[in-house]
Amino acid sequence: MDRRGALATILALLVGLGGSITGLIAAFISNAFGRPRAKGWIKVGKAEDLSPDTFGRIVLTLEHRHAWMDASVPMTIFVKDMYPKDPIAYLGTCSHLGCTVAWKDKSKLFECPCHGGKYNAKGEVVDGPPPRPLTQLKTRIKGEDFFILLPEKREGMA
Ligand code: FES
Repeated sequence: MDRRGALATILALLVGLGGSITGLIAAFISNAFGRPRAKGWIKVGKAEDLSPDTFGRIVLTLEHRHAWMDASVPMTIFVKDMYPKDPIAYLGTCSHLGCTVAWKDKSKLFECPCHGGKYNAKGEVVDGPPPRPLTQLKTRIKGEDFFILLPEKREGMA
């Protein structure tokens, strides 16, 4: 092999190695942001435990994969019985910076403790910096059990 041939071979090896390293870095970054293990409809509990008078707070524990390890990630939801319709449920994550909101019976608002964001019972922003409404979850009652449909993209599960 002459010099040019050797140089071309070395360049080809470096390009191949660079592509492999890039792929590994991309895979690591993708995993580092986490992949939910639970998908689709999940059973939350008994329908008879839901209240028609107020939003009940439920903390679910979901399995998640972060980088090279599995982790349990809490997800807070608020649910109200709307019989005979399906229950109404919201993800409890504030759309501003991801703090967990709380339902206040006195004000009839979801209030965020971090920067004063407030949402009404429809999940709409009524005060403060949140840029978007609360994420509403699809719900279903099957038999005696209550289910929610996990959102495809889960922002700030807390
Ligand atoms: S995180 Fe809720 S208002 Fe800022």
